[in-house]
Amino acid sequence: MSDQFFDVLIIGSGAAGMTLALNLPETLSIGMICKDTSSEGSTYYAQGGVAAVIDEYDSIDSHINDTLDAGGGLCHEDIVRFTVERAPEAIKWLVDLGVQFDTRSASDGSTEFHLTREGGHSHRRVIHAADATGREIALTLQAQVEARQNIQTLERYVAVDLITADRLGLAGKHVHGAYVLNLQEERVVPVSARFVVLATGGASKVYLYTSNPDTASGDGIAMAWRAGCRAGNMEFNQFHPTCLYHPDARSFLISEALRGEGARLLLPDGTRFMHEFDHRGELAPRDIVARAIDHEMKRLGCDCVFLDISHLPAERIKQHFPTIHERCLSLGIDMTQSPIPIVPAAHYTCGGIITDTNGMTDVPNLYAVGESSFTGLHGANRMASNSLLECLVFAKSAAHHIATQPLPELTFSIPPWDESQVTNSDEDVIISHNWNELRHFMWDYVGIVRTDKRLQRARRRVRLLAQEVSEYYSNYRISKDLIELRNLIVVADLIIQSAIQRRESRGLHYSLDYPAINPNVSDTILVPPNYR
Ligand code: FAD
Ligand code: SIN
Repeated sequence: MSDQFFDVLIIGSGAAGMTLALNLPETLSIGMICKDTSSEGSTYYAQGGVAAVIDEYDSIDSHINDTLDAGGGLCHEDIVRFTVERAPEAIKWLVDLGVQFDTRSASDGSTEFHLTREGGHSHRRVIHAADATGREIALTLQAQVEARQNIQTLERYVAVDLITADRLGLAGKHVHGAYVLNLQEERVVPVSARFVVLATGGASKVYLYTSNPDTASGDGIAMAWRAGCRAGNMEFNQFHPTCLYHPDARSFLISEALRGEGARLLLPDGTRFMHEFDHRGELAPRDIVARAIDHEMKRLGCDCVFLDISHLPAERIKQHFPTIHERCLSLGIDMTQSPIPIVPAAHYTCGGIITDTNGMTDVPNLYAVGESSFTGLHGANRMASNSLLECLVFAKSAAHHIATQPLPELTFSIPPWDESQVTNSDEDVIISHNWNELRHFMWDYVGIVRTDKRLQRARRRVRLLAQEVSEYYSNYRISKDLIELRNLIVVADLIIQSAIQRRESRGLHYSLDYPAINPNVSDTILVPPNYR
C-alpha cells in the first residue's frame, strides 16, 4: 500500500510547482514535495526579474522578435508567441497575489512599474523587485500555498523514480506516482497519485561552477528519461557571463540588470572589450557575452574579468541592487567605488523533458513545467528573464489541462520499495569522488567551447561512471547524494550525446570543429530505449 495518496503529486516547489498548485481546483488533493526547505531552489535566487510587455511603447512583436533573435533560430515561434502574449496576465496574477514589484512615479503623477533592461531585450521590459525578484515571488507564492487547505507541502522528500504502469507489470505506460526518500525518516515511501508533475528545475549542478543552488541536479529530467520521455536540446547549457569571482562566494550571481543599467565589462587593465564582439556591447545576448569573456580570459591567461557600475550614483546602485551591494561589501568589494571581479558559470538548462503547451510529456498523466521542461521557447539560448515567465505561463496552462481531465482511477496498490538486496554503504567516498570527477570533466570538456575530441573523451568517462554508479545503486541503500549523482550522470550523458549530434555552432553550443551555422535548423531530440 502507498504511504501517501494525492490527486496531483507535484515534485518541486519553485515558481513552476507553486504556480501549478495554486491554479488547480481546490477540490483536488495536492502533494507538493521538495528536496530541501520549500523555498530552496533557483526561483528564490532569481535576481533580474520577469520579462513582460507592460510599457505602452513596447510591443508583443518586439518581445517575440528579441526572443527569437536571442534563441539563434531554434525557438518555436508559435510557442514564443503563446508565452509572450500571456506575460502581462502572468504579472497581473502575481500582483493580485501580493507580489510587490518596484514602481516609480510616472510623468502624470501616477505609479507605474519600474522596468529594467537585460541582454537581448530591445526595450526596458523586465519587471523586478530590486535585485531579489525571485525571493519576493517565492515568499508570496509560499504564503498563498500555506493558506490552501488542499495543498500539503512535504519538505525534505526526495523523489527517486516515477512509478509507471510497466514498472508495476500493468498494461500501458501511465504514471501512477513516485518512490520518494523521506530524509527525516531515512526510508523510501511510495506516493501514489492520479497525475504527477515534474517541476524539479534545471541541471546546472552538472558543471563545476554554477550560479545554481544544490537542488539543480536534473532529477526530473533523469526520472522522466528513465520513465520513457524524450529529451530535447540538451546541448544548450547557458553560462551566465557574470558570476562573482571570489573564493568564498562561488555561486553568487551578479545580475545582468547591472549591464542593463549601464555596467561595463572590463579587462584587468581596465579596457572595455564587448564592442569588439557584438554591436550591442554588454547588452548582447548571454551566449555571446559569455563566449567573449571566456575568449578574453583564455587569451590573457587571467582568472577573471571585471564588471564596473561605479560611474553611477552610489545611492542609485544601492537602491536597485541592495542584495548584490551587501554581498559584495561583505566580501570587501564596494561596487559603488570599484569594479566587481566576475567569471561565467553554468546557469540555465535550455533543454529538458519534451512537453506541449499543456505541459504534457510522452508518458500519460505525467506533466513537466519550468526549467525541467523543453517547450521550444528558448531555442539555442534563453533570453534573460524569460525563464520565470515560462514557469508562470506553462504551469498555469498545465493546471488548467489537468483540471479538465477525468480523474484516472487508481484500482491497485503500489508495492513498497524493495530493500531486501541492499546493505548500508561503507564506501561513500565513491559518491563524492565520482561527483567531483563528473563536474570537472563536464566543465573542462563540455563547457562554453567544445570540440569533438573533448566530447568523445567526456562520453567515455560518463559511461564508466554510469556503470560504477549503477552497481553501487543496486548494492547499497540509497541516499540523497547517490540519487543526485545517478541523475546527474544521466543528464550529463544526454548533454554529451546531444552536443555530439549537433555538428554546427549555434547559440550556446559552440564547436571549434564546426564553427559555422548549419542552414538546416533542427532540434536535437533524444529518444529513450523504452519510448513507445
Ligand atoms: P526551481 O525554482 O529550481 O525549483 C525546483 C524545485 O524542485 C525545488 O523545490 C527542489 O527542491 C525540487 N526538486 C528537485 N529535484 C527534486 C527531487 N528529486 N525530489 C523532490 N524535489 C525536487 N530567471 C528569470 O526569468 N529571471 C531572473 O531574474 C533569473 N535570475 C536567476 C538568478 C539565479 C541565481 C538563478 C540560479 C536562476 C535565475 N533565473 C532567472 C532562472 C530561474 O530562476 C529558474 O529557471 C526558475 O526559477 C526555475 O524554476 P522551477 O520552478 O522550474 O525550479
Ligand atoms: C540575472 O539577473 O542576470 C538573471 C536573469 C535570468 O537568468 O534571466
